[in-house]
Amino acid sequence: AMPWTTAIRGHFFDITAVAEGAEAIAQRARNIEDGLLLLDEGRIVSLVPWEEGRAQLRHEQDYLDYRGKLIVPGFVDSHIHYPQTEMIGAYGEQLLTWLENYTFPVEGQYHSPDHAARMSAFFLNQLLANGTTTALVFGTVHPQSVDALFSAAQRLEMRLIAGKVMMDRNAPDYLTESVEQSYQQTRELIERWHNNGRLGYALTPRFAPTSSPQLLAAVQALREAYPDTWLHTHLSENLDEVAWVQALWPEHESYLGVYHHYQLTGKRSVFAHAIHLAEQEWECLRNTDSSVAFCPTSNLFLGSGLFRLQTCQQKRVRMGIGTDVGAGTTFSMLQTLGEAYKVAQLQSYRLCASEAFYHATLGGAHALDLDDKIGNFQPGKEADFVVLDPAVTPLQTLRFNNSRDIYEKLFVLMTLGDDRNIWRTWVNGKCVWQRDALEVAA
Ligand code: GUN
Ligand code: ZN
Repeated sequence: AMPWTTAIRGHFFDITAVAEGAEAIAQRARNIEDGLLLLDEGRIVSLVPWEEGRAQLRHEQDYLDYRGKLIVPGFVDSHIHYPQTEMIGAYGEQLLTWLENYTFPVEGQYHSPDHAARMSAFFLNQLLANGTTTALVFGTVHPQSVDALFSAAQRLEMRLIAGKVMMDRNAPDYLTESVEQSYQQTRELIERWHNNGRLGYALTPRFAPTSSPQLLAAVQALREAYPDTWLHTHLSENLDEVAWVQALWPEHESYLGVYHHYQLTGKRSVFAHAIHLAEQEWECLRNTDSSVAFCPTSNLFLGSGLFRLQTCQQKRVRMGIGTDVGAGTTFSMLQTLGEAYKVAQLQSYRLCASEAFYHATLGGAHALDLDDKIGNFQPGKEADFVVLDPAVTPLQTLRFNNSRDIYEKLFVLMTLGDDRNIWRTWVNGKCVWQRDALEVAA
């Protein structure tokens, strides 16, 4: 038998392998109602039914008893802005005026390392309180914003990818930089943080409208110098934005064409939103093995449009789910899945629970090219998972008791669930967040 350090007994659900399409995903679903998970420090050793695994225990009581709870892989948030936490739910605007009126002034505060450190702690606590163990995160233009976030994530041993925003036009002076400065500061951050423990660096040009051709050329140079970094930006979120890109970059035939010209497409490139895409842009995403982030609460909140989930699938483009806080209205991936379901409903596509949970876990990991490390309970994976309390309100309890199988229970969690359903969050083999600690404090 393999050595192990921690044993957990409970109800487990995951998707055992990367798959395309609802049917293939459902075939790989694993539901172990009474299971035993063995960890060796931060790694998964095995997940087997209790009766099969119990012989491995040294003593009869040698396990954490999480029976009555539902344990799933940690959620992967494939697009979020940590410096927008304090402006979530800002009234009345669509993308471009929302950026001007609300976002830019708040991001200006992150020149202060103290503010960045305070907000980093708050932000990561929100992720953990919502069962999110990995995220792809926007900082601000200030390198100190990213230093603060990475420092805090490192203390928690989280697998987190982030980057400093790069922008040199069409934003206030206090948030723009020269190409040279952007290049140098990004380089220093990559050297400091990329592949430092579980951390990864994402080159983060905000979007085409705030980038000059010279800036995107600098991003391209960085990507060539550091080919295993991520590329994180926005794409075709809003129709006015798309028209603006056309006006700013008339020599390119599409919005994605701008990024593609600078070779910013490819594996580990993650494009947030991708709502208003032409056929050729979908083809280009597919041919370059790029990923997109579907951010339903943000897309509805800003009135941006409906992400074409079925097209994305038909085109076989890698996709993760993003909350996109602060345009998104929740940190909860459960609530975000509930809204994803509704976006699909409006387009006559039925997003079933196993597919939805796949996108929030292994599928998101695949979109970030991390599926060899996280996303399910396969042996050797890093032990990031969330312990859900499936029924925490009278309504949830009523509905839960009236559910026939795991799929109905998961579906009820994504329609009625939120942060109250997160009971424990484990990162790298350690419990780093627990609800009872909150209750004791209150
Ligand atoms: N496009 C460019 N910047 C942003 C941002 O901060 N949020 C969203 N949702 N879209 C953007
Ligand atoms: Zn965004």
